[in-house]
Amino acid sequence: MSRPLALVTGASAGLGDRYARSLARRGHDLLLVARRGERLRALAAEIEEAFGACATVVPADLATEQGRRACREAIDAAGRPLELAILNAGFGSRGALHRLPREREVEMVQLNCTAVVDLACYVLPPMVERGAGALVVVSSASAWQPLPYMATYAASKAFELSFADAVGEELRGTGVQTLAVLPGPTRTEFSTTSGENAPGPEWLIPTSDPEDVVAATWRALGRGRRHASIGPVAHSAAAVARVLPRPAMLRGAGLVQRE
Ligand SMILES: NC(=O)c1ccc[n+]([C@@H]2O[C@H](COP(=O)([O-])OP(=O)(O)OC[C@H]3O[C@@H](n4cnc5c(N)ncnc54)[C@H](OP(=O)(O)O)[C@@H]3O)[C@@H](O)[C@H]2O)c1
Repeated sequence: MSRPLALVTGASAGLGDRYARSLARRGHDLLLVARRGERLRALAAEIEEAFGACATVVPADLATEQGRRACREAIDAAGRPLELAILNAGFGSRGALHRLPREREVEMVQLNCTAVVDLACYVLPPMVERGAGALVVVSSASAWQPLPYMATYAASKAFELSFADAVGEELRGTGVQTLAVLPGPTRTEFSTTSGENAPGPEWLIPTSDPEDVVAATWRALGRGRRHASIGPVAHSAAAVARVLPRPAMLRGAGLVQRE
């Protein structure tokens, strides 16, 4: 019997790399997507050797229609159904919007929002037809509230959370699951890519390991949950968003986030 197939976007680093390794260990074959093909090829070779997984490398810029088309074509070329799609590729930026480069903010929306909708629309119909499969959207603890100085990023993550929640409800009873993953700060290349300063001391900003995020994802999927919050920051962000009036939350977030 062939191994089940999983798609992981943003597999060349951080969480995507760990999702790919964990899935290969759990018996999946993989479609690995990101821009840095060299890194993907090295990862594919490693997991093929270690776990006997077949890993197909898809170098693609998902912030572009051309890259998303390459990804859709790779899904078709696999010639078998996807059991799991992990839409994880993403980045952020930091600073007051009026000082940030417009192109980069728009690129972020293309990757964090457009690519998620595009690929979800592509992978879900065959899953629903088979009555099986799961769509995992890696959002963020930032999804729970607007974040001054990370305005586009937090809005894009709120979009992902809202999207995954609504689609999950539409899919009730179909056998297809959705999960929004909501990590707090996690040790990956994210802060470098997103132009953040070095994170504060651990006692001030508790930071998770990517492995914690991956393990929480499998636990939440196994329990049929719609959300997986990881780390104290994620848990408190959700709680604060429930109780604090929006103006007070915005003011507080603005003070904390100020450059
Ligand atoms: N780390 C955190 O603190 C944290 C917290 C909450 C949520 N998250 C979310 O977790 C997800 C993964 O981030 P990470 O922490 O693992 O960051 P990371 O280490 O920087 O990895 C980001 C991944 O996304 C890929 N990517 C970036 N731009 C892309 C593009 N245009 N097309 C295709 N792939 C692209 C990167 O590959 P290439 O550069 O090779 O394309 C890389 O594989 C993101 O959605 C992020 O918002 C992270």
